[in-house]
Amino acid sequence: MCGIVGYIGRRAAYPILIKGLHRLEYRGYDSAGVALINEQGKLNVYKAKGKVSQLEAYAADKDTGGTIGIAHTRWATHGEPNTVNAHPHYSESERLAIIHNGIIENYAVLKAGLQQEGYTFKSETDTEVLVQLIEYTQLNKHVDLKTAVQLALQQVIGAYAIAILDKDHPDTLIAARKGSPLVVGIGEGEYFLASDATPIVEYTDQVIYIEDEEVVSICMPATSGSAGLPPLRGGQGEGFLNITTINNVEKTPEIKRLELSLSQLEKGGYPHFMLKEIFEQPRTLTDSMRGRVNVRQDNIALSGFIDNKDRFLNAKRIIITACGTSWHAGLIAMYAIEEFAQIPVEVEYSSEFRYRKPVINKDDVVIAISQSGETADTLAAIQLAKSKGAFIFSICNVIGASIPRLSDSGCYTHVGPEIGVASTKAFTAQVVALTMLALCIGREKGTLAPDQYLRIVRELGQIPDKIERVLSQNKRIADFAKTFTYAQNFIYLGRGYNYPVALEGALKLKEISYIHAEGYPAAEMKHGPIALISQEMPVVVVAPHCGTYEKVVSNIQEIKARKGRVIAVVTEGDEVVSKIADYTIEIPETEECLTPLLTVIPLQLLAYHIAVVKGCDVDQPRNLAKSVTVE
Ligand code: AGP
Repeated sequence: MCGIVGYIGRRAAYPILIKGLHRLEYRGYDSAGVALINEQGKLNVYKAKGKVSQLEAYAADKDTGGTIGIAHTRWATHGEPNTVNAHPHYSESERLAIIHNGIIENYAVLKAGLQQEGYTFKSETDTEVLVQLIEYTQLNKHVDLKTAVQLALQQVIGAYAIAILDKDHPDTLIAARKGSPLVVGIGEGEYFLASDATPIVEYTDQVIYIEDEEVVSICMPATSGSAGLPPLRGGQGEGFLNITTINNVEKTPEIKRLELSLSQLEKGGYPHFMLKEIFEQPRTLTDSMRGRVNVRQDNIALSGFIDNKDRFLNAKRIIITACGTSWHAGLIAMYAIEEFAQIPVEVEYSSEFRYRKPVINKDDVVIAISQSGETADTLAAIQLAKSKGAFIFSICNVIGASIPRLSDSGCYTHVGPEIGVASTKAFTAQVVALTMLALCIGREKGTLAPDQYLRIVRELGQIPDKIERVLSQNKRIADFAKTFTYAQNFIYLGRGYNYPVALEGALKLKEISYIHAEGYPAAEMKHGPIALISQEMPVVVVAPHCGTYEKVVSNIQEIKARKGRVIAVVTEGDEVVSKIADYTIEIPETEECLTPLLTVIPLQLLAYHIAVVKGCDVDQPRNLAKSVTVE
């Protein structure tokens, strides 16, 4: 996700802002920029695609003076990663400059209104719409910048953390948030602004966490005398800070003391990025569904599907190509698409698909799934499919990556950068995106009963909260994970929608704890693997109360009869499996097709805790890369 840094005080702003951007690099980004008001009142904006170091190189011979500024690292959501779309964005008059972290869902409507008023736009971003709306509001309502920000944000639907400069008021920095985090640091005669405390912690431990729909105004009058804002602390030289809601209701700033180290802060207080990303899933799935799943209207709107409806409705076959965890998400999609849309689905390992001379027809739809959007085998697979005339639809987490750029259409997962090599939040978002697609096709084709469609759409809206309930068992999972670090081998079993979850759980354990693990369809045990059962090889069984539950219970009994040790993932209130398994982890009841979103969470946590006890490098496991960009 994007990173925001702001400074107003008595020191040169530019070095502080750049250092702050470096502190936020861990969040992942694809471009960076800075805006400063110099001593002569000139507003300078410098932006560069790529790393912060490239911004520094670009600005090296520019005027970077001034004691007030804002800076930004962009994780592209609307518009390709390039210099034009990088933040900060000027207003039409170039009097204002804004930076933004979040997604404005109704930006298209707001943009159309501004265009009717004669406004023009240089970028494809939702952020530029916001700064134009603020300027338009200020000029047409004849109000000050803070009021214009309040009025403009009242019209915004979506998530934002913004900071804005007005070159006509070089003593004032204004910021606001809703849904995206924003922290104010209070120094000695200076104030800092950031998406989290990492750029602030080296200057002060006094912070204010801005709440949703709050607007903060910070003023450092160049001369003595109030700028109409109540002093926060101390005398005139310390400046003035004021917080209101977007409806101009005064709020009392609540100063807190920072207690986390820099390293801890980058991980949000978690010991590893992987654990942070596991716990982010309720929020990242909410972000991923934002603007797409509308529970109030009982509807799903996937633009990539809407714009290409006929390709999907006329498809004789859907080929899914991916690698690793993304391939597991594709396997889950096979169950959903065939059940709801009744279109034959083939799920291919990209590395095999690209070389085995597959039959590909013009009316095939090929879905490529890739978190990074750069996996070489998957990229090659869609190049082959494209050359045969197939329609390419990609599910990706990185805007503007090679795979989405090569695709005819697609759906971004919008979970922000996934730092841990072991994919977690991207996987659940891929499953949600693919499930939404299956539901859209089924509803459009009429192969999915309207009442079942409605039931699943409503249940999708409940999934983030239900994941929170599963995450609340983290401590218990950590406790019993310790008893399994002896194991050299694990088997993971599941049926139906949860067979791919068994594969995914096995992969998680393998790749971060270096314990061999195999995922299997539970019914396959009798065709060989049951010969392996012993006390020394734990068996994880994904056994939610749906589908072929009774069959899975029989599989567990066969394992217990041979002295196997069983860890079972069950539905809350299960009274059968919980009596025969050695350990059970409960998930809330949900629709069968959505159970993978809940059953995978305990398996992510189990793998994580076993790896931690074993002292493995959880975030960067040996021999692995986050994105396999070579064959
Ligand atoms: C998942 O935990 C692994 N890191 C790996 O299997 C990964 O899913 C695979 O390399 C595919 O990556 P992609 O989604 O970026 O294409």
